[in-house]
Amino acid sequence: MNEQKNTDAWTSQERQGMSAKWLCPLCRQPLQAADGSSRCADGHCFDKAKEGYINLLPVHRKRSREPGDNRDMIEARRRVHGAGLYQPLADKISSTLQDVLGEDACMLDLGCGEGYYSQCLLAAMPGVLLHAVDIAKPAVRLAAKACKPAHFAVASAFDVPLAKGSLDAVLGVFAPASDAELARLIKPGGWYLKVSPGEDHLWELRQQLYDTPRPHLPAMPAIPGFAAPTTSRLRFLLDLQGGILRDVLAMTPYAYGGLREHKERLSGSSSLQTRADFLLTLYRREEDQPR
Ligand SMILES: C[S@@+](CC[C@H](N)C(=O)[O-])C[C@H]1O[C@@H](n2cnc3c(N)ncnc32)[C@H](O)[C@@H]1O
Ligand SMILES: [Zn+2]
Repeated sequence: MNEQKNTDAWTSQERQGMSAKWLCPLCRQPLQAADGSSRCADGHCFDKAKEGYINLLPVHRKRSREPGDNRDMIEARRRVHGAGLYQPLADKISSTLQDVLGEDACMLDLGCGEGYYSQCLLAAMPGVLLHAVDIAKPAVRLAAKACKPAHFAVASAFDVPLAKGSLDAVLGVFAPASDAELARLIKPGGWYLKVSPGEDHLWELRQQLYDTPRPHLPAMPAIPGFAAPTTSRLRFLLDLQGGILRDVLAMTPYAYGGLREHKERLSGSSSLQTRADFLLTLYRREEDQPR
């Protein structure tokens, strides 16, 4: 990670007065930031947490007390990313977006988790105005602490507090998304980059967990309002040792699946080589059709 570049990005964004484009989640009017809080014209006020994020998830829209990934998953993912295991994916995401976006694009990292891809993206494209949301507050807290130049909010991917057509691009890495929200948020000609598991993703790990593991089915469905996507595939080997092997297990849905005795045996293993396999599917937003 290039910390120096990130710091430069922050100062240049501040200089240019690039402030976040968040909307009030209660009345949908723009939020203006001042003195550590953000306020809409109706006086709804949202404090900035000391880590730098704002919570735009109204309590009455929370479906559970702690929605999204739990702390164990978030911390395991942070360690895996910190070990550089998914750096080839981060590089591929950045180069794919660099190829299609201007340097000062306005973007959203949807379901950003603990902010690894936000951080990598800003290191590669320091001029981007980056918003990032996740429904899990502990994830957003970690992300905001680690990546000052981005604008982080606790919010749902299904009700993003940003205006219609406000974004040049949305990035979603293994994250939930709503077709209708993507079509609303992304301006005509803008982009949605979806990263999902390829059919061999963590195949050897899944072989250890299940008697008959099933390959992931590639998911590249059409999205209304977007042209047919293009997909590229990224594959590389992961050499998982000790604690990192347990972390990879803990950060995936397999933490809750598989046979208990298989999981215990795998957790006790000292190493495993397994394939990483990702699909990067790039959608382009079409012009709105006149009614
Ligand atoms: C598999 S993790 C991926 C995190 C991150 N993109 C990464 O690759 O490191 C999925 C993330 O989606 C978040 N999430 C789940 N439901 C969500 C929702 N309705 N709105 C926003 N985020 C959600 C989880 O909290 C979790 O951080
Ligand atoms: Zn309001």
